[in-house]
Amino acid sequence: MSKPEQFNVSRRDFLKTAGVGSLASAVTAVGEAEVAAQSGGARAVGPGEVPITLTVNGKRVDLRIEPRVTLLDAVRNRADLTGNKRVCDRGACGACTMIVDGRTVYSCSTLAIEVQGKQIRTVDGLASGDRLHPVQQAFCDKDALMCGFCTPGFVMATVALLEKHPNPTPEQARRGLDGNICRCGTFVRVMEAALEAGKAVARG
Ligand code: FES
Ligand code: FES
Repeated sequence: MSKPEQFNVSRRDFLKTAGVGSLASAVTAVGEAEVAAQSGGARAVGPGEVPITLTVNGKRVDLRIEPRVTLLDAVRNRADLTGNKRVCDRGACGACTMIVDGRTVYSCSTLAIEVQGKQIRTVDGLASGDRLHPVQQAFCDKDALMCGFCTPGFVMATVALLEKHPNPTPEQARRGLDGNICRCGTFVRVMEAALEAGKAVARG
């Protein structure tokens, strides 16, 4: 696979635009970045669509998107992988949690263009055919959901937790999942599911 081209859109530029309330204004920021790049020699792109290549659940995904597009929007709206949900859309709830190079990220607050060349995992890629991933199975067995909007994010956070701490202690589970919120209040059962999944993974 050819190495995708890397672009220069800094987190500072992204957060600066998000801070004024509209991702749409990222177009302006990228325009400013272009001006800065002309003097600094860095490669800048946008505000129009550019080709990018993502690796999602082990598969290559070629897209044309504006640099302001988030990883969540790119995966849900362009790659048609709709497992991970948009809830707060501002990095506060964790429903959009994906795993990028082994670490959880809020995909609503991550630019797609920034994660080219990295291994992106979404909840869509966990099951093997009809066989659920042990974490998904544990959430079903423990009835760890009500409306379900938070569930994909909790599942991905639990997968990352177990990769770091197979068979975690309750404290490790609490810390591993503390970036996710359930508005329906199923925390007790989510915690039970995470610990149960850990035992299942430890049993092999
Ligand atoms: S939708 Fe991304 S953190 Fe809430
Ligand atoms: S089950 Fe409804 S937000 Fe968690």
